[in-house]
Amino acid sequence: MKQKSDEQVTNLVLKATAKARAEISPDAERGWTEPVQWPVECTVGPGLEGAIACESQIGYVHGAAGSLLYRGYDIFDLAAHSSFEEVSFLLLYGHLPAPAELEKFKANLKRYRHLPVTLRRIMSFPLEEMHPMAALRLGTHMIRQELSYADLEAMRPSIESAISADEDSIPMETMPRGEEHAIYEFKRRRAKARQHRYPPSGMESCYHLISGVAVVAAAIARIRQGCMPIEADDSLSHAGNFLYMLTGRKPDPMEERLMDIALILHADHGMNASTFASMVVASTLSDIYFCIGTGIAALSGPLHGGANEQVIHLLREIGSPEKVPAWYKQARKEKRIIMGFGHRVYKAYDPRARIFAPLARKLARKNKDTWNLYKTAEALEKEVVSTLGKEKKIFPNVDFYSGIVYTCMGIPTEMFTPIFAVSRVAGWTARVTEYLKNNRIFRPRAIYTGPFELEYVPIEKRGR
Ligand code: CMC
Repeated sequence: MKQKSDEQVTNLVLKATAKARAEISPDAERGWTEPVQWPVECTVGPGLEGAIACESQIGYVHGAAGSLLYRGYDIFDLAAHSSFEEVSFLLLYGHLPAPAELEKFKANLKRYRHLPVTLRRIMSFPLEEMHPMAALRLGTHMIRQELSYADLEAMRPSIESAISADEDSIPMETMPRGEEHAIYEFKRRRAKARQHRYPPSGMESCYHLISGVAVVAAAIARIRQGCMPIEADDSLSHAGNFLYMLTGRKPDPMEERLMDIALILHADHGMNASTFASMVVASTLSDIYFCIGTGIAALSGPLHGGANEQVIHLLREIGSPEKVPAWYKQARKEKRIIMGFGHRVYKAYDPRARIFAPLARKLARKNKDTWNLYKTAEALEKEVVSTLGKEKKIFPNVDFYSGIVYTCMGIPTEMFTPIFAVSRVAGWTARVTEYLKNNRIFRPRAIYTGPFELEYVPIEKRGR
């Protein structure tokens, strides 16, 4: 069954790949792909458009062609043949892992799936009243404890010295066999647990965060539904375990594979706002857990990762495919920004949307509601591409179809952006780690357009 569903999904990705490669212009000019002599000259627009912030070997967005590479590998090939674990390794280490390297990497991620102290701590907050992205940011900071004093005393916080909230804990004592077993039992065994300290290394923090953000996101989803978080299942892949911890049931092979592809597609994307935000924090030599918390905060906005949630609200607002033309006419009149379309870098179809679209189509046939959502999206895409596509090169982006895939998998809408974070943490950690090797604090300037030489007037002499 697993093999058959894997084949079905792979075939859909391969079909999308063939179509994309037939349409992508091979001559589209690449920009900024050679090492440079600093300082560089570039034209900077509002929102730092065009600004060159650093050199990187992690990934490349070829906006004019509509292609995306991780460490030189095409996203289409990675979606068809790779796994999130392999892609995370690739982003962090720069090469595809050998079999033994991949096994070791997976074992490292599994080690950090068990975060009972972190989960217990976040459960003491009213998570159900917070947006899951706010809860995820909080939880990410909770993963790392005993940070401030040691780091401040050392004067130079270091990702090598990350100390986990869960170091001093024992693992959950029950096996994951359902709700009645999802009980957290804790004992404080500091002295003994110290002997089992995670080996300190910069990469350990990255593994810790890649696993930890997924565990915390899944726990948030469970808590919001009034359920206890459940213990990880180490027999499952990263994607499969994430779905299991999120829904409380073992995913079927198709769901596991689709989640894996979703995580691959979101793992890195150049100097996007959340990546840049996390790098800005890193550049002050702040802590990597703060960097990732900052990435989560930046990602949550509706112009960035928050768009995937908004797309579903938009499609539901429209209601049905027949209503699209009238809705779109009015939206254009009101100069509405249409969620899930447009991109700062892509001036062609986003390759990630090319992959998500057929996956959404396949899954959406599941029931009337999801099929209606898909058909509404398809009709909206047609309208936008034939108008804004021609006028302003605005096409669907990664967020346009991803939400339909998640909806078909029964995932609540408010968890869509956290899923983006569960994936992007791989890119954030890779980029932060890379940047720190050649760090310089980020410090752009603003053009001051205010007045000069004003005379200070005491408050009693000021008018209203
Ligand atoms: N709907 C309608 N018009 C749009 C859209 C859109 N989605 N996106 C851009 N435009 C128009 C924009 O109004 C502007 O028109 P004009 O030249 O007449 O002023 C023109 O296209 C150029 O856009 P821009 O504002 O210069 O684009 P930007 O690079 O500043 O913004 C963006 C990029 C992604 C924030 C924007 O396209 C947008 O708001 N899209 C909707 C939100 C969204 O889907 N975000 C997810 C982005 S992809 C995944 C991610 O990074 O998280």
